[in-house]
Amino acid sequence: MTAVDVARLRASWSTVAERGDEFALSFYATLFLLRPALRELFEVSLTEQRGRFVAALGDIVSRVDDLDAAVPSLRRLGRAHRESGVLPEFYPLVGQALLATLERFLGDEWTPELAADWTGAYAVVAEVMTNAEVRGRGRQSVRLPLGDGDSGPRAELTADRVRGRLFRRARRYRRGFDREDVRAFQRRVAEEITARDREATRLRAEVARLRARSPREPTEGAAVVDELAVSLLSQAQLLAEETLTAADKHRRRLAAQAHRQAETAAEQAATTYRAAAGARYTPDGEELQRRLAWARTYSHALGMPLRAADTAFQHHLREIG
Ligand code: HEM
Repeated sequence: MTAVDVARLRASWSTVAERGDEFALSFYATLFLLRPALRELFEVSLTEQRGRFVAALGDIVSRVDDLDAAVPSLRRLGRAHRESGVLPEFYPLVGQALLATLERFLGDEWTPELAADWTGAYAVVAEVMTNAEVRGRGRQSVRLPLGDGDSGPRAELTADRVRGRLFRRARRYRRGFDREDVRAFQRRVAEEITARDREATRLRAEVARLRARSPREPTEGAAVVDELAVSLLSQAQLLAEETLTAADKHRRRLAAQAHRQAETAAEQAATTYRAAAGARYTPDGEELQRRLAWARTYSHALGMPLRAADTAFQHHLREIG
């Protein structure tokens, strides 16, 4: 670490950190161009991940002159990575992507000396993170198919991933929904995804074409990654995130609508029940049976747990005396 010029490294980071999200977007695009299979380790949306990554780097840079003090948190981070399926052999790729992105963002400010600062600092961080021992079994056994057969960034935007995630999450909201509404909603989202898929396919084809045209040669220091490919992949990433946000908005609107419908249905059931049972109650066995039956109807209509429905029901009972 003695070779690292801390002031120089910090100054370079402060330039880059001003464009933190853009930097991270470009960093991940570079990483996935270098090794597409790594995309599978991450969620479709990288919105939060970008923030976390930049924050972690900022934290490391701020403590780079006393990395000893950062060791416990780096070890924790290293263990969390192990448990997410990150293998030690992935670290050089992240280092390569990081350096390439720094070079791209710093332009003329990027010098061999600065490259050496970052290489040195990253090597220490990567070593601490990979040496963190693993407790428990977690997901460490996850292995990725990382052969030379990787061909282009294919995993990051497939509609199946977007769709699968969306509808898996939507399942929770289905009870009490009007089926037709759910279908219409799914059709709308599917159409939207299909349209964006077409755009993503076009971008992927373009990236593949670029990759084929300029096979990368291993170089000293930062790897050469086609800038246009990085920019296209970054666009594709933002497109996927937009799709998820739009779909989530549709889902929320639909959930609110379904909730209103269920409440109306439950109100109607309550009115009918009150009319049938009369306004006065005696808490005998028969009455309790009726109460339970009504609570079930209410719980079914609202899609809420029986206990919550029963509480709501008792509230109704008090209201009608
Ligand atoms: C200096 C090196 C690295 C830093 C500073 C870093 C930073 C981070 C941070 C802060 C998180 C979020 C952790 C959390 O909230 O629990 C994270 C998650 C993650 N990182 Fe890293 N990371 C590094 C290296 C790597 C490497 C080498 C890989 C391998 C591909 C990797 C893949 C991941 C994955 C898969 C996640 C979880 C993402 C998810 O939950 O969707 N990271 N990283």
